[in-house]
Amino acid sequence: MNTTSSAYTSTWQSPSNLAIVKYWGKKELQQPINPSVSFSLSKAVTTTTVSLTPTKSSGFSFYLNNEEKPAFRPKIQKFLDRIRSRIPLIDQFHLNIYSSNTFPHSSGIASSASAMSALAFCLADLQQQVAGEKNLSIQEVSYLSRIGSGSAARSVYGGWNLWGHLPEIPESSDFHAIPLPIKIHPLFKTLQDDILIVSDQRKKVSSTAGHALMHDHPFRNGRIKQAHNNTLLLLKHLENGNWEGFSTIAENEAMSLHGLMMSSHPSFTLMLPATLSLINEIKEFQQNSGLPVTFTLDAGPNIHLLYPQNVKKEIVKWENQKLKPLCEKGTIIHDHIGDGPQKISQQK
Ligand code: PMV
Repeated sequence: MNTTSSAYTSTWQSPSNLAIVKYWGKKELQQPINPSVSFSLSKAVTTTTVSLTPTKSSGFSFYLNNEEKPAFRPKIQKFLDRIRSRIPLIDQFHLNIYSSNTFPHSSGIASSASAMSALAFCLADLQQQVAGEKNLSIQEVSYLSRIGSGSAARSVYGGWNLWGHLPEIPESSDFHAIPLPIKIHPLFKTLQDDILIVSDQRKKVSSTAGHALMHDHPFRNGRIKQAHNNTLLLLKHLENGNWEGFSTIAENEAMSLHGLMMSSHPSFTLMLPATLSLINEIKEFQQNSGLPVTFTLDAGPNIHLLYPQNVKKEIVKWENQKLKPLCEKGTIIHDHIGDGPQKISQQK
């Protein structure tokens, strides 16, 4: 397939991100019911090229790792329909979208965050090429990304980011993410994320279905308050280099997220027996070693083990001995905090 014959082409690489305070539950058009805080990953990225073909009938083709993937079409179609008023080229061209991920689909890394933000960057860039308008601001790209997938709003920056309005942080917004408006302590600038793969099977309940169950969840109001408090506290810990505080919030958010799933109607469980065995190992090691290591979970059974880079040697030694045997096919994916999206090339 030829991605470069079009007069208009754009390629962007964008990272996935990992939330410490979790987004769980939404209002209309992917506005969150609570604020969330995440960091962008370094190695888990999607690279997307969009090239435009002039056409009377608009539309798109989508290829993932060089294969046409009809299963992704409805989500992309919905995204394009929702943003066509902001990106008019959608009605003027056929979009050829070529995407590839550095990480396996269903590995517990949010591919929708990296994929939707990479696509939003390409479309914003192309709209500027086609219409000669000034570049969309990064906040506008975050806004577009959010419409594709909520957590994608946070993938448009590197480092630590906040999405969702908090009265205490006037620049925060439900519409787009912002970089954390604090000075991050060095301890949290080198955060490692080792993803302990418990299962690489597609999860049985999608995030979309999980978000919807928060609508009339009996703990909805308590959850909104908890996320609000955890966000403000987390910001303090990230600024002060308070590992204990950070660790408490990371684990509390992970367990609360899964508690909300288990207490919704209908209830569902995404943790598997090996998830609990790994958590027990981690808790025991934390107590015995006194080393700064903690964990979080996303909407799936896999565990994200978090620690600063200066203890990597000790952690990896223990991880290989105790945790690797509990992982599916001994799989651990090593990643760390990253610098954010990058424009790869542009051909005219
Ligand atoms: O962006 P979505 O709809 O895939 O939701 C993501 C939800 C969590 O990953 C569980 C939490 C988060 O804030 O990323």
